[in-house]
Amino acid sequence: MKKFTSATLRKTFLDFFAKRGHAVIPSASLIPENDPTVLFTTAGMHPLVPYLLGERHPAGKRLCDVQKCVRTGDIDDVGDSSHCTFFEMLGNWSLGDYFKEEMIPLSYEFLTECLGIPSDDIAVTCFAGDGDCPRDEESAALWEKCGIKKQHIFYLPKSGNWWGPAGTTGPCGPDTEMHIIRNHAEADKLSPLEFEKAPAGTFLEIWNDVFMQYNKTADGRYEPLKQRNVDTGMGLERTLCILNGKDSVYETDLFGGAIEMIEKLTGKKYGESAEVTRAFRVVADHVRTATFMLGDQKGVVPSNTDQGYILRRIIRRAVRFGRNIGLGQGALKDIAGTFISEYSPVYPELEANKGRIEEELEKEELKFSRTLQQGLREFEKVAQSLPAGGMIDGATAFHLYDTYGFPVEITGEMAREKDFTVDVKGYEAAFAEHQEKSRAGSEQKFACGLADHKEETTKLHTATHLLHAALKKVCSPDIEQKGSNITEERLRFDFNFPRKLTPEEVAEVERVINEQIALNVPVVMKEMSLEEAKKQGFTGLFENKYGERVKTYSIGEFSREICGGPHAASTGELGVFKIVKQENVSAGVKRIKAVLVPVQ
Ligand code: ALA
Repeated sequence: MKKFTSATLRKTFLDFFAKRGHAVIPSASLIPENDPTVLFTTAGMHPLVPYLLGERHPAGKRLCDVQKCVRTGDIDDVGDSSHCTFFEMLGNWSLGDYFKEEMIPLSYEFLTECLGIPSDDIAVTCFAGDGDCPRDEESAALWEKCGIKKQHIFYLPKSGNWWGPAGTTGPCGPDTEMHIIRNHAEADKLSPLEFEKAPAGTFLEIWNDVFMQYNKTADGRYEPLKQRNVDTGMGLERTLCILNGKDSVYETDLFGGAIEMIEKLTGKKYGESAEVTRAFRVVADHVRTATFMLGDQKGVVPSNTDQGYILRRIIRRAVRFGRNIGLGQGALKDIAGTFISEYSPVYPELEANKGRIEEELEKEELKFSRTLQQGLREFEKVAQSLPAGGMIDGATAFHLYDTYGFPVEITGEMAREKDFTVDVKGYEAAFAEHQEKSRAGSEQKFACGLADHKEETTKLHTATHLLHAALKKVCSPDIEQKGSNITEERLRFDFNFPRKLTPEEVAEVERVINEQIALNVPVVMKEMSLEEAKKQGFTGLFENKYGERVKTYSIGEFSREICGGPHAASTGELGVFKIVKQENVSAGVKRIKAVLVPVQ
């Protein structure tokens, strides 16, 4: 196998696909756009869902990129050798262009020739087939033709060889996964249906090719997509680790600077004991994730809801583990600095947002540090009063959060360390009682799926453009979109403004929007260069996201935005626009929730 650094691996991957007609597109934000059901971008395909469903992408039908991703489902496992809450996904896509016959040989060529993996060390799994979709013998035959040994081709059911939708509905399909064989003796004992019987460590997964040809509907059916797509994903950290023969992702160049900094700040050595190693890894992983969330083009700050809550929880968990190895106040900022230097050449937004990253980390660390010691003492008191295997009740867990700033997940983790449990339902109830905005919503959102292309969400998306333009006209030309989230029922729009709108302003915003709806203005999409779009006065919210060429949507002279779509054909379809709620997101950011009432 050839050796790589993170930089050479990214470049090798992108060059390979660029040479084969793929446009290299920049990483999208970590915060999904117009997607009510997922808090963070979890895979390379995530920002591309509209195009997988059939929208035209301005860069063409063949794309590749390195996408920033966050998955926090396994946060408690961070500290072992492989789990990370942030990772980069190398991926390539065919949007209704090539399919299996081309993708499988491409994957084989990349693995064997570019990465130098011997063909005999590669095992693949293919979809075993069920009532929804037949056994993928085509992929198996293609792999065999490339040179993969027949005994290294396995079949797995939907639980193993089907990818997506990213949530409950959306594009999905059978996949074929590539693995490096680490233990030939064990691998060779297995029959084609016994892949999962292999002892841990026999295989290491390296790449996933998804053949997206279905759309999973809300009622659980798999309907064929308009087009057959390819979606692939290769984890950068994991692949680097495998190719360089490292024991964990923390020993790759991506973490070198951070580990060194933690050693310097604590006087401890990474690897000196299992406990120290775990704390180093938790701190390094969480600070990296926090750095990317804070430094994102749509930067998140710590708060008690949605993305902000996840960020808060990650920073506080880093502080707790950091204190165990002697990290003092301000350390997180220094560690973040190593990631900013490491990653800015690839993600310039980190350098651009350095001030915010450092400031927010320091603030959040300080907030939590003030109460951490007292909170730990309180926790010990509670623990001592419990019988072995006992449960911390909801009111106590809420008290630990409300008074000492312990997110319930941290209390849960500390409880588990002593074989106690936490009454999370009781906590939720106590929380809901004390605060209007329950965090439960955000957790649910995190667990489920992608927005789809329903007519209602499309209309609300168009209404969001009207709202954006109306706010600029009625309230201030400086207003910009700070966030958008659309469900089938409502739109939610965050924007910079120092105060809530007055009742008069609300009425005026509604009036000008309903005027545009009454005029039944066509929504016109045009593709052009980013430069041209800027020249014509389109708001460039997602600048550079699609590289050179962008899609623009205009609604007469009223609204002009660079946007991926899709949109209603004309404003007459929308119904009556109504603002239902205003909220305060932070000092300078306000939120509006609005609905479209159908005209009877
Ligand atoms: N979307 C696929 C994955 O995340 C490629 O594995």
